[in-house]
Amino acid sequence: MTTFNDNFLKACRREETPYTPLWLARQAGRYQKEYMKIKEKYSIIEISTIPEVSAEVTLLPINQFELDSAIIFSDILIPLGPMGISFEYKKGYGPLIHNPIRTVADVEKLKVVDPATEMWYTGKALTILKGELNVPCIGFVGAPFTLASYMIEGGPSKNYERMKAFMYNESKAWHLLMDKLGTVMANYLNFQIESGAMAVQIFDSWVGALDIDDYNEYVYPHVEKMIQVVKEKYPTVPLISMGVNSAHLIPSLRKANPDVIAIDWKTDLAKTWADLNYEVAVQGNLDPTALFADWDIIERKTKKILDSVKGKPGHIFNLGHGILPETPVENVKQLCKFVHEYTRK
Ligand code: CP3
Repeated sequence: MTTFNDNFLKACRREETPYTPLWLARQAGRYQKEYMKIKEKYSIIEISTIPEVSAEVTLLPINQFELDSAIIFSDILIPLGPMGISFEYKKGYGPLIHNPIRTVADVEKLKVVDPATEMWYTGKALTILKGELNVPCIGFVGAPFTLASYMIEGGPSKNYERMKAFMYNESKAWHLLMDKLGTVMANYLNFQIESGAMAVQIFDSWVGALDIDDYNEYVYPHVEKMIQVVKEKYPTVPLISMGVNSAHLIPSLRKANPDVIAIDWKTDLAKTWADLNYEVAVQGNLDPTALFADWDIIERKTKKILDSVKGKPGHIFNLGHGILPETPVENVKQLCKFVHEYTRK
């Protein structure tokens, strides 16, 4: 039996590790032929809600690459189903919401569900994985803002005009929506930890659409509360906070007290970390499109990130956003191997 690899958890706590640990956002997905084979039989919603299939997909990249953490295969929108939102993943479009939130009454109707009852499948998948993995598994949720963006816009959006109009004009209903989402997602994270997740990540992918004043007024209190609810119960479980195009929000993200801040690929990771006085761990941040280049370019860009932080404890290597569908598998494999070899002390 191989020993348990806890280097990822150690790095989240800013402890020394023998090399820089890594995992990759969206490490299970369409760039893998094994995933596409499973997709022939099951939809994303099915993969996410059949525990055995979710566990199997979670393991695909773990068996293929040198990774220091798994991430449970699900999607941030899955809990919206039990809350009363009907949706599908439409090919070539993304998530399509059938009953978007348009009125105060729509917000009032949303159900504040119990994750252990309604999202039992995620718990079961994590329990299965605990017996199979020798690396930690990350549990995750979408943050209230990013979830609301889909719920109000009805799908992906460029400028979020409908959502912002609702946020400004119906601010009481907006805060009720954020509160309901924050409550369910915090409880869902706790349920995932109880089921075997050893770290958790909050995905606030689209929060960079807000300026700092709006973030602090309309979003921050709800994220702070979510993190408190998890930390009160599980103070030692690392919590990762992630946003894209959100460098301007980092002081506020930090204030909410996560253990790790994920840095998007457009942001200077070493400089951001120094600005944070190294008081929090950082994760990132290779441009996911760099993986389409020849290896020498990938190596140069990866080295630049690794050299910039000089092996300081508390850096988890990752991409600055998720792996894209057509990414060459060989490059992913070589990247994982390279990060370990290059940083080994
Ligand atoms: O391996 C992992 O990282 C775990 C699985 C995971 C998925 N979605 C599976 C999935 C994770 C962590 C997510 C998070 C997620 N989902 C986010 C936050 C991360 C980010 O990328 O910013 C967001 C914004 C979503 C919403 C979502 N789900 C979108 C926009 C899409 C469609 C994207 C597209 O390219 O079509 C999904 C569907 C989805 N969820 C896919 C995967 C692997 C791809 C679709 C497929 O397999 O057909």
